[in-house]
Amino acid sequence: MTTTRVLTGITTTGTPHLGNYVGAIRPAIQASRRENVQSFFFLADYHALIKCDDPQRIARSRLELAATWLASGLDPELVTFYRQSDVPEVLELTWLLTCVCPKGMMNRAHAYKAACDANAAAGEDLDAGVTMGLFSYPVLMAADILMFNAHLVPVGRDQVQHIEMTRDLAQRFNHMFGGGRDFFVLPEAVVEEQVATLPGLDGRKMSKSYDNAIPLFEGGTKALGEAIARIVTDSRLPGEPKDPDASHLVTLYEAFAEPEQNANFRNELRAGLGWGEAKQHLFALVEAELAPMRARYVEFMAHPDRLEDLLMAGADKARRLAQPFIAELRQAVGLRRMLAVARASPGESDGGKADRGKLAAPSFKQYREADGLFYFKFTGPGDRVLLQSHGFAQGKEAGAWIQKLKADGGAVLATAPVVLPQGVKPDEVLEALSALASS
Ligand code: TRP
Repeated sequence: MTTTRVLTGITTTGTPHLGNYVGAIRPAIQASRRENVQSFFFLADYHALIKCDDPQRIARSRLELAATWLASGLDPELVTFYRQSDVPEVLELTWLLTCVCPKGMMNRAHAYKAACDANAAAGEDLDAGVTMGLFSYPVLMAADILMFNAHLVPVGRDQVQHIEMTRDLAQRFNHMFGGGRDFFVLPEAVVEEQVATLPGLDGRKMSKSYDNAIPLFEGGTKALGEAIARIVTDSRLPGEPKDPDASHLVTLYEAFAEPEQNANFRNELRAGLGWGEAKQHLFALVEAELAPMRARYVEFMAHPDRLEDLLMAGADKARRLAQPFIAELRQAVGLRRMLAVARASPGESDGGKADRGKLAAPSFKQYREADGLFYFKFTGPGDRVLLQSHGFAQGKEAGAWIQKLKADGGAVLATAPVVLPQGVKPDEVLEALSALASS
């Protein structure tokens, strides 16, 4: 079976609450453990800058969100977990996409239109307070997704339009620069309908803006207990039968209970369980799930250096894919090194012979070292070493990789067991590979 790439961005503006955990964090982490899934999770901190100009808040939120996702069980070995701003290739791709993006498409984006409508209602200039960041938000999001050629993007309803725009941009780029090849996969939005939105203390959707949220880890056991004590119930006394279907406390309980526990809880309420006791049951249930995670959260928050290391390792992993890919895209749009241009249009007087003489053709060389292992290297113009392979026990393994690199070039570069020597840019390697292929 082939692997499905799933990618999710988390905007770093707030502190996660219990509703975020049940609605987004827990299901996403579960999904990342499925077979044949390659998951990308990133902190969308460039997106955060669009909504928030408070540096302290941005910095704090990045820290809390990284700690929260890892403490909740995200396995950084299994998934690729990184900060958007540690992968500069994303910004480079944003520009390439911006240049194929019709302005009219951005005019139709919901978030921008909502801002215009609010301005119109207030009698203001339509674009008052609208930054270019807000206006072109969907292009940055498209770059996040297309950079890793994600197949599936789990999002909330409000984000579906952005995925449609991403498909549109991908198609345009493929058509304009692909030359028959599809650089980009067309992603699909996944809107999870089954995961209930968790109600807050007052029964409305749990949200920071309603001030009805139950904290996830912040404030510890104490804050959790205090919030649960403030859940609004009806005024029925202990001993009076209660309607479980009419109580959002039951909905909260359900989000953490096994089916059997849930049935018992409902029966007890019908039989007259007091709200005070019901809250204690709820607290015990939630605390049992959260306590071990909270301990890890506290540990991470006390050691931000560990988070930093994990995130930088994640960025490395992401860039190993992003760097060769962006190099190909640069080639595709014409951002090429001058050598390639010279080769494509040979000098008039001598048909380009002088050029070719200087540029000893790129080639692969296979050899055996004193360690008994087989190696190969790829050299470009002037015998400059562009790729150095790892050691192989078998000569034919080295040979097989050489064939693959010759045949597929950039497409296998990211996964090939080779390193680029210091100072060699992926562009250079790709160019030399394509020169070899066409010679
Ligand atoms: N815009 C998304 C949100 O507000 C966050 C996000 C940024 C995102 N880039 C993404 C989500 C890429 C999915 C894929 O929820």
